[in-house]
Amino acid sequence: MAKAKYTTHLGMVDILPDESPKWRALENIIHEEAAKFNFEEIRTPIMEQTELIKRGIGQLTDIVTKEIFAFTKGESNYVLRPELTAPVVRAFVQHHLDQRGGSQKLYYIGPMFRAERPQKGRQRQFHQFGVEVIGTDNPVADVECIAFMIRIYQRIGIKNFELKLNSVGDPESRENYKSVLKEYLKPHFDKLSELSQKRFEKNPMRILDSKEPEDQEFIKNAPVISDHLNEESKAHFEQVCEMLSSLNIEYTLDPLLVRGMDYYTRTAFELTSSDLGSQDALAGGGRYDLLVEEIGGKPTPAVGFAAGMERLFIACEELEISLAEEKKVDVFIVSLGEDARKWALKTLPLFRENGVSATMDYLDRSMRAQMKDANRENASFTLIVGDNELKEQKFTLRNMKESEEAQLSIDEIISKLSQ
Ligand code: HAM
Repeated sequence: MAKAKYTTHLGMVDILPDESPKWRALENIIHEEAAKFNFEEIRTPIMEQTELIKRGIGQLTDIVTKEIFAFTKGESNYVLRPELTAPVVRAFVQHHLDQRGGSQKLYYIGPMFRAERPQKGRQRQFHQFGVEVIGTDNPVADVECIAFMIRIYQRIGIKNFELKLNSVGDPESRENYKSVLKEYLKPHFDKLSELSQKRFEKNPMRILDSKEPEDQEFIKNAPVISDHLNEESKAHFEQVCEMLSSLNIEYTLDPLLVRGMDYYTRTAFELTSSDLGSQDALAGGGRYDLLVEEIGGKPTPAVGFAAGMERLFIACEELEISLAEEKKVDVFIVSLGEDARKWALKTLPLFRENGVSATMDYLDRSMRAQMKDANRENASFTLIVGDNELKEQKFTLRNMKESEEAQLSIDEIISKLSQ
C-alpha cells in the first residue's frame, strides 16, 4: 500500500473503528463504578493556561521542563493539558465548587499530552481516567481513591499488580527531610547530573525522581523521607495503611516513591504491573493538600489518582482479556432495484424506533455482494426485498446464524425483531 502523505504526529495514534468498542466498554465500566462510589464527572478544556500547569505541577519537574506542548496566540499562552489534577483544581477554585458543600468527589476520562519519547506504553497523546477528592484530609478519602482505582482493574480481571505506597510528608516533614537530603547529597554534588545539580537548591526531593544514570547510585543510598516524618504525617500514613489492610488491599511500602509532580504531600502511591514492560505504571496518585491554595483558593486538602488507559489495554492484551463485545447489527436490508431501495430507506426508521439496529446497502450492489456485506457486518437477520416482495408485501427474513427463512409482513418482522 502506498504511504499516506499526511499522517498522525509522532506518538499520537488514531483509535480506529475496530478498536473503539474496547474504549467504549472501558469507559462504560468507569462510569458505572464511579456511580457506585458516588463520584461526579467533570470535563474541562483540552487547553489550559501555561502558567497554571507550571505553577501546579512544578517548574522543575520533567513534565514542565521537557514535556509540555505550549504555544502563544495573541496575548495568551496555551498548553495542551499534560494531566488533569491542576485543571480540576483550577475549575474547583474558578467555580467555587466548595460552595456545593461537603467534599467534591470528581472523576474524569480524557486525552492528555506530553512530549515524551514514544515507546510501548508511552505516547504523546494518551488517555487517563482519574479521580480527585477535594475538601478533606481524612485518610478515608485516600483509601476510597485507591479502592476505586483497584476496583476498575479487578472488575476487568487484571489482578497481577502491585500497589506501592509512601508518604512524602507534610510541609514541615518535607523541610526537615530536604535539609537531611541536601546534607547527604552535598559531598556528591559534582558527580550528580546537570539536571539534579539544578534541582539541588530549589527542589532536592525531585532528584529522587531522576532517571539520569549518574544519579542512580546516590538515589539508591539516600536517606528516606519515612524516617523523617513528623508525628502528624506519620499518624495519617499509619491510618491509611491500617484502612487499606482492613479492606484487604495489599500494598508494599516504597520509601523512594516521590512521583513526578511537585504538588504531592503525605500519601503517594503507584500501581505497577509486570505485564507492562519498562513503562510499568498502570496508575499513580496521592495527596496534594497545598495545591488549591497554590492556585488561588482557600487552603483545602485533596487527594486523587490517574490511570493510563492505553496501559490498561496493554495489560488486557497480555492477559488475553477482551473488553469489546463483538460488533453486530440486528438487521441488514438487502434491496434489489430502485423501488426496493426507496422502500428500504423508509423502513429503516421503523426498526430503529423500535429499538432494532438496522442498516442497508449504500452501493446499489448485487444480491450476492449485499449478502456478503451483511455477513461482514455480522447481521443477525437479513431482510430481502425486490419488486415481487413489494407487490406481495411479504418479505424474506433470513436468520443468518440458523440459515432459516420466512416470508413475513413488515409488521410481523418488526414485532419479531423488537422482542
Ligand atoms: P502520572 O503518574 O503522571 O500522574 O500519570 C498517571 C498515569 O498516566 C501513569 O501511571 C500512566 O499509566 C499514564 N501515563 C502517564 N504518562 C503517559 C504517557 N506518556 N503515555 C501513556 N500513559 C501515560 C498524574 O497524571 C497525576 N495527575 C495523578 C494524580 C491525580 N495525582 C493526584 N490526582
